[in-house]
Formats: sequence, C-alpha cells, structure tokens
Amino acid sequence: MTGIDFVGYEVLIEFIEERRLYELEGDIIEIGSFMGGGTAKLARYAARYGKKAYAVDVFDITRDTTPGADGTPMCDVYQAFLEGRSQAEVYAETIKGLDNVVTIAGDSRGVRLPEGQAFMFGFIDGNHQPEYVTNDFYLVWRCLVPGGAVAFHDYGCELPEVTAAIDGLVERHRDEIENVEEIREKHIILLTRKRKAARE
Ligand SMILES: C[S@@+](CC[C@H](N)C(=O)[O-])C[C@H]1O[C@@H](n2cnc3c(N)ncnc32)[C@H](O)[C@@H]1O
Repeated sequence: MTGIDFVGYEVLIEFIEERRLYELEGDIIEIGSFMGGGTAKLARYAARYGKKAYAVDVFDITRDTTPGADGTPMCDVYQAFLEGRSQAEVYAETIKGLDNVVTIAGDSRGVRLPEGQAFMFGFIDGNHQPEYVTNDFYLVWRCLVPGGAVAFHDYGCELPEVTAAIDGLVERHRDEIENVEEIREKHIILLTRKRKAARE
C-alpha cells in the first residue's frame, strides 16, 4: 500500500540534474508530502549525492480547507485519494527503507529547522492559504544556498491566491533572484537564488 505523488516529481529532479544543483552544499526539502510518493523520489535521488530529503507535513488532511476550481475544499480532495486509509500510515509505508528521509510532522508555521541547516532545493506544496505559501517560502529561503532553487506547485492555475502570494514574493525578493522559470503544464514555478546573494 504505497503512495503516489500528485505532481510528477520527475520534472523537479530533471531541473536539479540539468542545473547541477547537486554540486551545491545542502539537502532537499519538501513541504507537503501527502502520501510520500514524491518524498520517496526525492530521497532516492538525494541519496545518490549523500544528501537528505526533509519532508514537512502536518499529517492532518482536515487542515487545508482552501476551495479548488470547482469549490471542492482541498481536504475533501485528499480524503478521496486516501479512500479511508490513514495519511500517516500510507506515507510511512511509502518511505519505508529510505534512511535519508527526515520527516518533520507538524504545522509548517511551527517548524524549526536545525541550526545551520542548508538546502540546495526546496519544493513547496503544503497548505494553499496565502499566509502558508509565504511562511513556507521563508522556511526554505532562509536556508537556501546561493545558486539553489525553490519551486512552488499550483502556480497559475485554479488557486489564484497562491499565484498572487508567489508573485508578491518574487517582487519582494527580485534582487536576490537570478532566474524565474515556469513548467506551465505542471503548474510549477521555480526561483533560482543568485549565486552571490547574501543569505538572509
Ligand atoms: C497537495 S498535498 C501535497 C502533495 C504532494 N506534494 C504530492 O505531489 O504528492 C498538500 C499536503 O500539505 C499538507 N499540509 C496542509 N497543511 C499543512 C500545514 N499547515 N503544514 C504542513 N503541511 C500541511 C497536507 O497534509 C497535504 O499532505
């Protein structure tokens, strides 16, 4: 009983690989793991370079009530995918045996990362309320090494508040961002940090 991933994390791994982000210092972080399918893909990839995959999830599918395009709250969408199974159990089964996964179970607004933690790549796909999008960005950005990248899911699709929050962050951090790229068919936007930018 293993979990799928919603996004198709292969495009994220291709991005890391093509830009040789694996040569940078730091691990990978994902915010919003759901069933762990993407976590497992990131962890297998990270292991090739002796890196860890951090995974942050609240493991409480009732928490995100943001309505999607047809008005269905996100929590109902998650419930349908789980078909009565426990999210935490499906996740645990999916990442079983991957000893470089560091799971942080909790609300991303309360997460404290280890002192000195560095990331070379982060993927944000947690709670879709704009204050969470902003919080999750800073959780990653503060630890993102120069040249590293942070990606968001749900950009430019049926969650306009997510798109607006990301546009605001891009504007605010324009001087620290080297490059902005979109993978439109996947609703992903990726921000690469300037190589020489000072960390916050
Ligand atoms: C869209 S799903 C993630 C899907 C996953 N990235 C994939 O592609 O398979 C969003 C996840 O965010 C988690 N989440 C919701 N609110 C959260 C919060 N406040 N803190 C951490 N995780 C949260 C949910 O439990 C859910 O697993």
